[in-house]
Order: sequence, then C-alpha cells, then structure tokens
Amino acid sequence: MSGKEVIFSGVQPSGDLTLGNYLGAIRNWVDLQDEYDCYYCVVDLHSITVPQEPKDLRRRTLEVMSLYMACGIDPKKSTIFIQSHVPEHVELSWVLSTMTYLGELNRMTQFKDKTKKNEKNLNAGLFTYPVLMASDILLYNTNAVPVGDDQKQHLELARDLADRFNNRYSNTFQVPEPLISKVGARIMDLQDPEKKMSKSAENENGYILLKDDPDTIRRKVKRSITDSINKVKYSDDQPGIKNLLTIYSKLTGEEIKDIEKRYTDKGYGEFKSDLAEVIVNHLSPIREKYLEYMNDKDYLKEVYNEGCEKASKVARKTLRKVYKKTGFMAR
Ligand code: TYM
Repeated sequence: MSGKEVIFSGVQPSGDLTLGNYLGAIRNWVDLQDEYDCYYCVVDLHSITVPQEPKDLRRRTLEVMSLYMACGIDPKKSTIFIQSHVPEHVELSWVLSTMTYLGELNRMTQFKDKTKKNEKNLNAGLFTYPVLMASDILLYNTNAVPVGDDQKQHLELARDLADRFNNRYSNTFQVPEPLISKVGARIMDLQDPEKKMSKSAENENGYILLKDDPDTIRRKVKRSITDSINKVKYSDDQPGIKNLLTIYSKLTGEEIKDIEKRYTDKGYGEFKSDLAEVIVNHLSPIREKYLEYMNDKDYLKEVYNEGCEKASKVARKTLRKVYKKTGFMAR
C-alpha cells in the first residue's frame, strides 16, 4: 500500500482516439501520476456494447495502450491494464446491478443517445453499461476519476451505488469524486460545434485523431466551421471559434484572453493556420512514440501482464469483501 489516494480512468477501444479524448481525459491523467496511485484501464468489455470486429478490437486494445504511453503515462508509475483481464469487474457488476434501479439507467443521456444510433442492436449491455463502469471505479477504492464532461452522469451513479452498498451493509466503498477540468472537458466537433467531438462521427473532418498525420491535421483545422463575425473571440455566439480557442489554450497552456489579444487584428485564416501548427507540434512526438510502441508487442505484453497482476490484487480483495458482506459462502 502506497498510502496515496487512488485515481481510476479508462478509454474504450471502440475507435481511434481523438483530440477530445486527449484533452478531456488522457492529458490530465499524466499530471496525476506522481501524486496518486493511478489505474488506467483499456475498457474492452465496455466496447462490445456496439458490435466489434474481433481482430480490430484486439488491435485497437493495443493501440489505446500504446497511446496511453505515448501521451506520457508511465507504466513504472501507473498501472496500465486491460479490463477483460480482471474478471472481478464483471463479478462486481452483477452484484451492483441488483442494487440499481431501472429508472436510474433509463435516465442516462448517453444511453438515450446510443439507443437512437443503434436501433438494430438495442442490447441489454448498452443499458447496464453504467453499472460496469461503476464497478471499474469502485473495485479500486478510487478517490477521483478524471474524465470529460460527458461521463459526469455515469459517475453520479457510481457514487450513488457506493453509498447504497455502504448503507445497506457497512462501509465498504470509497465514494469517488469526478475530476473534470474547467477548460477542455467538452471538445466540440470541428464541423458541427454544437456536438461533442467523437470518434463515431460521420464526417471525418469533424474530429482530429491522435494518429492523424500533419497534413491531415492542417486540412481539418483549415476546414473547421467558424462564422462570419471574423473576430477571434471566446463567445457563446461563436461556438466554432470558442472551441478552437479552447484547443489552442489547452495545448499551449496560454490563457484564452491572452490568445484573443494577440489575434485582435488578425483574421480566422491566420489563427487557424497557427493553431494547426500548435496541434501538429504537440501530436507529432506522440504519434512517433505510438508507432514505436505498436512495433514492440513483447513490451506491450509485459506492460499489460504486469498491470493485470497489480490490478487483480486490489480487485480480488475488494470483491472478496463484497461477497462476504453480501452473504456468499467463502471457499
Ligand atoms: P470514452 O471511451 O467515450 O472516452 C474516454 C474519455 O475521453 C473523454 N472524451 C472527451 N472529453 C472532452 N471532449 C470530448 N469531445 C470527449 N470525447 C471523449 C470522455 O469523457 C472519457 O473521459 N464510459 C467511458 C469509459 C469508462 C470509464 C470507466 C471512464 C469505462 N469505465 C471508469 C472512467 C472510469 C467512455 O465511454 O469513455
């Protein structure tokens, strides 16, 4: 036991990772590694709530792991692991599902959205998904969960379930806090700034992938939707520019008001072309490291096996406690 507080978070290997995943989540994970005991999981069990091609899922699982490390997650400091390697996630999920009300799951906005998109595959997993997510978090006595804005409601459920279990039996779970940054918690689609940037968007110009090459990034930024006001200003009336300013500020650490000032007398063209270079310069080393990791499958295996061992120890202990309190016979 390190005595440090615990962080848990994860990304689904259901598509290529976007700048939204990076700025809303992974970027923030990096800074937490020294101060906290961090668990960063590739949540493959979650991703099969929409159909996946098995060989693509396997490849993407390694890609997400490689990107974690390329973005700066250090396996010597943090536990990097694959969700399906630790079966306790599913076992706890069953117990918690018996304490979750249908009404709570019905209210989940992400479920409602996904329902609209997957009309042909309305499976039970899509509905109970937030219970599995709560299990991920609660298994590790997690104090805080760094995520983007869209995961807030799921986290509320995790907190409610922790409280419910603790009240029904006795104190067992740490009640986790969301860690959602003020700027960049919801990066928007470059083609439709009213929608969040997502790897499942239909128009590929709407998102920037961490794997995109420099010319693709330049093209996508240049084509991003703005407005006819032609003032680089952080305003709700200019959602496109507001989003681009957010990205600029998150990547450079520069205050939004200072960026606005610098572009007072300049048009969107110049701002966009500078922003494209900021993104290219930031993502290029990540992309290079990512490719190196992907070429070293032995190392990846070492990392996920070691991660699994560390995660399993904690998960087993928590689950044993839960089973005992629930009234299951010990072996
Ligand atoms: P997922 O895989 O959709 O996204 C991974 C992380 O990226 C954040 N994110 C964004 N942040 C800002 N702007 C965006 N446009 C954007 N798009 C995505 C998400 O908020 C998330 O933090 N249910 C989760 C995965 C999960 C999980 C967990 C997370 C499963 N178990 C336990 C934390 C703890 C999901 O689908 O994330």
